[in-house]
Parts: sequence; structure tokens; C-alpha cells
Amino acid sequence: KATAKNLVFADGNPEAKIMLVGESPGRDEDLQGVPFVGQAGQLLDRMLAAIGYDRSHVYITNTLPWRPPGNRQPTPQELAMCAPFLERHIELVQPKVLMLVGGVSAKQLLATHDGIMKIRGKWKNVKLGDMEIPAMPILHPAYLLRMPAHKKLAWADLQDFRDRANSLS
Ligand code: URA
Repeated sequence: KATAKNLVFADGNPEAKIMLVGESPGRDEDLQGVPFVGQAGQLLDRMLAAIGYDRSHVYITNTLPWRPPGNRQPTPQELAMCAPFLERHIELVQPKVLMLVGGVSAKQLLATHDGIMKIRGKWKNVKLGDMEIPAMPILHPAYLLRMPAHKKLAWADLQDFRDRANSLS
């Protein structure tokens, strides 16, 4: 918070049944106060468009609402400090389904140390209080920008995600 310019809380539709949780804001998100607006965010928008969604169909937040200095990964301490706020945020939004965008978000909400290549595309439940929300980890768009050959894995996962999300009323 001390080094960030803006709080980056959320974007999209808070009434949506689909909630996305990313990692943490980068430079562009910090400047604009909106999640996923930089290069990775533009790819995320294209990934959503590929399965028929835009930001009016989803609600988007991150594990941390402030940019870590220099875009480093959130520390375990930062994640732990922000976890109660993230969890309450999800409880209040009451999504029907969660897309965990990248390994940091997936590990945090599924309480696992397994790597993203192992857990991507697999449905799990996120348990919060009385709620159990189906959740799928997907490859982070920033990773896909570095490893475009893995886009086909993400594509397959996204189709599976869409099929389940669309079957929920
Ligand atoms: N990467 C993320 O995980 N979240 C953002 O908001 C931007 C980039």
C-alpha cells in the first residue's frame, strides 16, 4: 500500500455468477486503479471473448489490491494479510463459480502447494464459511504471453470452464 498509487479493488459486474481472482496489480493497473488493464489484461479479455464473455459477464479481483513494488510476486505475508479481505469479498459477491487466474491465486484459495501445471483445468471446491464454490485454476495470461505454445492448454481449460459455468443457473 505504501508504494502503490491506487487501490485496485475490482472490475466487471458484481452481480455476475462468474468471479475471477488474479494475482496482483501491475504498473498499468496501479495507474488506472482497475484490474487487468495492461497487456496481460488485454489477453485475458480475449480469452474471455473466446468463450463468449466480456466484463459485463464476470467480476474480477486479485489476491492483493495493491501493486507489489516492481511487479514482484506477493509475499506469503502479504497474501496472508489480505486473505480475510479476499475471502469476505468472495462471500459478499456470492459467485456461482470461480476462475483462479494463475498459480498464486489458485494456491492461495485452494490452500495447496501444487504447481499450476498440475492443477490447471481441474475443478476443485473453494470452501468459505458455509459456501462451497466450484473453482478452476487456469494459466495466467502473463504466463501465456511468455509461453504462447501453452495457449492450447488454456483454450481447452476455458472451454471446460464455460461448459460448467453455463450449466449453472
Ligand atoms: N495480473 C494480475 O494478476 N492481475 C492484474 O490485475 C493485472 C495483471
